[in-house]
Amino acid sequence: MNRLLVTGGAGFIGANFVQNAVRTSRVTVLDALTYAGDRRNLETVADDIEFVHGDIGDAELVDRLVKQSDTVVHFAAESHVDNSLGDPAPFIRTNVVGTFNILEAVRRYDVRLHHISTDEVFGALSLDTESRFTEETRYDPSSPYSATKASSDHLVRAWSRSYGIAATISNCANNYGPYQHVEKLIPRHITSVLTGVRPKVYGTGANVREWTHVDDHNAAVQLILQNGRLGDTYLIGSGQERSNKQVTEAILRLLGQAADAYDQVADRPGHDLRYATDSAKLRTELGWIPQYDDFESGLAQTITWYRDHEPWWAAAKQTTEARYARRS
Ligand code: NAD
Ligand code: TYD
Repeated sequence: MNRLLVTGGAGFIGANFVQNAVRTSRVTVLDALTYAGDRRNLETVADDIEFVHGDIGDAELVDRLVKQSDTVVHFAAESHVDNSLGDPAPFIRTNVVGTFNILEAVRRYDVRLHHISTDEVFGALSLDTESRFTEETRYDPSSPYSATKASSDHLVRAWSRSYGIAATISNCANNYGPYQHVEKLIPRHITSVLTGVRPKVYGTGANVREWTHVDDHNAAVQLILQNGRLGDTYLIGSGQERSNKQVTEAILRLLGQAADAYDQVADRPGHDLRYATDSAKLRTELGWIPQYDDFESGLAQTITWYRDHEPWWAAAKQTTEARYARRS
């Protein structure tokens, strides 16, 4: 059986990945359990995995765990743009230095690496074009978060070209689904409405994101692990573009509220207008077909999950909203 090391496996996307990966691999999870990591996300597979509570900044620990693995899937990151605007330092430590530690270890032991990244590294598209990011689009990150993810992508590519490490990269559009932290748009809005608070839309709400279900993202990662070309990058995106206003109205409607029961608040500094990916390479070369091709029904399922899992999010909701309030 393949020995898989999953960094950040107690976070949103990583935990969903691990829940499936245990069927085919022996999985070790390395996770620092920051505010975004939660052991409960791995409850259903707790007996099937080795869980290591540790930091990818700890080079010796990373070395030991990579040495005993065949493949590393690297999800661990500081992942939230708003947090990066408030305090970029942990983003440099985890996303840049942490990735460097992973790269040095996979280089030493000739271990396969898949690096998880974001389409935010490409910066913003304008609202009035049909253009989309491709694997060839120039990097142009806007936020400290996306700049550190861009840095980590550059490091992976450089280690691949200069040292010949066996690596692939994927850049995915915005994810949604179960276990996403309540700081992010969709779970923040859902849990606000469920607790009687009006959702807050930054600026006019015209900004557009391409919403990809977490299971579709992880299915793409599995395909890249199986058949991806070493040294290559793959863009992942459902094609389901929605403005923040449309997403907000859909959540309100699905929760039985008036579609305009939200507030517009101050815009995010450097707020990227639009992200959209061209995932033709992944679809044609690796046969990826997103199963959640209807955003509104994926959203309805996600709402049901949050409705059914209030104990999972109630405490985090309070601390997250207190953190947002301190910043405004
Ligand atoms: P998340 O914030 O929910 O989870 C991150 C996980 O990493 C947490 O479990 C956290 O404890 C862990 N972690 C953080 N710092 C660590 C460190 N120093 N050492 C070990 N573990 C550490 O993030 P997510 O949304 O699941 O994102 C996972 C990856 O996917 C990230 O690399 C992110 O950039 C990328 N990505 C996310 C999205 C999205 O929409 N959420 C889209 C595209 C790409
Ligand atoms: P977010 O979930 O933070 O993802 P990202 O910034 O990585 O795309 O935000 C998604 C979009 O929603 C983004 O345009 C910012 C906006 N947004 C709001 O309008 N209100 C909110 O409360 C949050 C958290 C985000």
